[in-house]
Amino acid sequence: MANSAELTVDGKTYSFPTLEGTEHEKAFDISNLRDQTGYVTLDRGYKNTGATKSAITFLDGEQGILQYRGYSIEDLAAKASFLEVAYLLIYGELPTQEQYHTFENAIRRHTLVNEGMRTIFNGFPVNAHPMGVLASMVSAMSAFYPELENGKEEDKTDLHIIRLLAKLPTIATWSYKRSMGHPTNYPKNNLDYIPNFLNMMFALPVEEYKVDPVVAEALNVLLILHADHEQNCSTSTVRLVGSSQANLYSSISAGISALWGPLHGGANQEVIEMLENIKADGGDVSKYVEMAKNAKTTGFRLFGFGHRVYKNFDPRAKIIKKAADDVLAKLGVNDPVLEIAKGLEEAALNDEYFVSRKLYPNVDFYSGIIYRALGIPTNMFTVLFAIGRLPGWIAQWKEMRETKEPIGRPRQIYTGATLREFVPIENR
Ligand code: SDX
Repeated sequence: MANSAELTVDGKTYSFPTLEGTEHEKAFDISNLRDQTGYVTLDRGYKNTGATKSAITFLDGEQGILQYRGYSIEDLAAKASFLEVAYLLIYGELPTQEQYHTFENAIRRHTLVNEGMRTIFNGFPVNAHPMGVLASMVSAMSAFYPELENGKEEDKTDLHIIRLLAKLPTIATWSYKRSMGHPTNYPKNNLDYIPNFLNMMFALPVEEYKVDPVVAEALNVLLILHADHEQNCSTSTVRLVGSSQANLYSSISAGISALWGPLHGGANQEVIEMLENIKADGGDVSKYVEMAKNAKTTGFRLFGFGHRVYKNFDPRAKIIKKAADDVLAKLGVNDPVLEIAKGLEEAALNDEYFVSRKLYPNVDFYSGIIYRALGIPTNMFTVLFAIGRLPGWIAQWKEMRETKEPIGRPRQIYTGATLREFVPIENR
């Protein structure tokens, strides 16, 4: 017998169907709540509200589980390439060798960015934050690739998916090179995806640049770990914007803007700045743990800690923490903030305030330490997050369109003034 939930309000009892996902998550279907009861629900931050059904990513916050299309994040991070994971997220299955070759080759051949976009790029101040530049440049792609007419792009979607995956790294490196006063590099068709990005980031015209395989492999893992995360803030933004039939570029640009926030993807930059401040202040982590516990008065938050869904270790943080030790050792980098991060984690995880609130290190806590060891500047950390999250955003946008989700339009509880007479200004 199909399950149902009963709600009694104003003396009447209503019944709502329930549903259960493949991993046994349960929901009340309240699609007809207002029609039946006249009530809407209120759930600030959507902490208890499912916006959609999705077959892309499963995470269990209590168990610390993360799976893309049924594959564990541990397996994918250890065994897959980032483009294999991108294909898996977007098309639902791991690619065959032939499918992978076609996909990877198409991306390789679309890494050039229309030179007209340089005119827009050159208009930005040199010290503009790379995330603001990236969001603007991706939005501008809808002008340079107009075939993607709003709502009429089904036949061209695969081409625009390739264009986004191919060109985002190229555009991302422009900001860094200009901030260094260096000439930008063109992509090279004889380089694989991540070596191509590294070459565009760090090559200089005056000498041969050799990609360090340790760096390329570390970046492969980091991009995989960031690739999708079900209905997080930026992904929900991409789906909401796309639900109005806005084109893929505009939807992804909105996701980049949402990711930039310090409570979301911007946290990886905040973590390093926080760790640097603690180091400059003598390295006393307990002082900062106390400040975080009195956030209401100090306004201080331990960036890289806590998560809306994970009430256990973020499985990505576990992988990144181990990778940080490996990568820094292999590169011979000794970064004192790594020890400060470990000390902070240790202090927090032994403090009742954090334990009672189930605040654990999240994906952003250790990632910046690796990015820094790879030579990535702090203000580019969230750009790396965006490059990693791009396939997830694309997969979610595509699923939303293919399942013909209705336009997203939440309700509200109005608390403003009730009807009143207009008073002409001469009488006010
Ligand atoms: C990402 O959603 C995703 O999946 C996101 C992400 C992805 O892959 O897309 O995983 C990526 O965004 C990771 C999160 C990165 N952000 C940070 O590291 C910023 C610091 N963390 C927090 O601001 C916070 O933990 C959030 C925003 C991540 C989650 O916020 P919630 O779920 O709204 O929780 P909350 O703010 O209501 O906190 C609950 C309690 C509060 O204390 P009380 O009011 O109960 O006394 O925990 C406290 C908070 O003050 N708290 C913290 C804290 N995070 C929460 N206290 C100190 N330091 C922190 N970091």
